[in-house]
Amino acid sequence: MKNKSLVSITDYSKENIAEILRMAKLFEEKPNQRILEDKVVASLFFEPSTRTRLSFESAVNRLSGRVVGFSESGSTSVSKGESLKDTIKTIATYTDLIVMRHPLEGSAKYASEISDVPVVNAGDGANQHPTQTLLDLYSIYKTQGKLDNLNIFLVGDLKYGRTVHSLLMAMSNYNPTFHFISHPRLAMPDEYKMFLNSKNIKFFEHEDFTEIINQADIMYMTRVQKERFSDPIEYEKTKDTYVLKNDILVNTKTNLKILHPLPRVNEISDEVDDNKKAYYFEQAKNGVYTRQAILAAIFGLKPENDIN
Ligand code: CP
Repeated sequence: MKNKSLVSITDYSKENIAEILRMAKLFEEKPNQRILEDKVVASLFFEPSTRTRLSFESAVNRLSGRVVGFSESGSTSVSKGESLKDTIKTIATYTDLIVMRHPLEGSAKYASEISDVPVVNAGDGANQHPTQTLLDLYSIYKTQGKLDNLNIFLVGDLKYGRTVHSLLMAMSNYNPTFHFISHPRLAMPDEYKMFLNSKNIKFFEHEDFTEIINQADIMYMTRVQKERFSDPIEYEKTKDTYVLKNDILVNTKTNLKILHPLPRVNEISDEVDDNKKAYYFEQAKNGVYTRQAILAAIFGLKPENDIN
């Protein structure tokens, strides 16, 4: 992991993931440390973000590093026509690591190939969101006490949802059973189903979860992403297919946790927020510790409270 970019979750082995989760726990125990005092991190968000940008920036600040960057590219020379290549090559000379979110699939890989410093993919279009996946794994491990042999329900926009694409690939290390619940127009793309077949991972596709929800250990809800639709009518047809409410959770397993990468729109009713099975705000909080672990791993640093 040291000095390496994190573009896809497949860049990290099962052992790498275990090390990130181990360090995330140490950062959760002691979030304020001085290990990044000589580091400057670039935070380049060409697409809107609340959690990913601010949790990364919080992670750097809590480790005594510094952040430069932008939350929308309109204030940069991109608006004058500067290319992504020139932008990345320039910012790599100012900083020690680049965190980048960009709407184009493959943009993070491209940036990693031209940058002289490591690039961390903070989401590239509908492709991948590996740091979200690592915080999701940390959240699953914390709530279930294990990652192996879980029934994982992925609900909502499985076509464009980069978080579910990355999570599916990472969880394939741990022998899950997946249930994909989506409107047919937002079904899991074939390439991900082929990936699961190649690993002999069981998956089932459904349009409704009411009859099977009692099997779920993790219910991972996602937003139907308006910004990914070229046809607004398609969005209107699919946007409110699933709305999770308390009544549907009554006979579910005691260990069930509801996760959501957030932001949500209508897919989880506000009443669920007070349900003991709701975990999405804790999940967002886990993003700081997990991103601290990712930064430490790439910089080749250990948490101060690491006795290993
Ligand atoms: N989960 C996530 O990526 O949220 P933001 O879009 O707010 O960063």
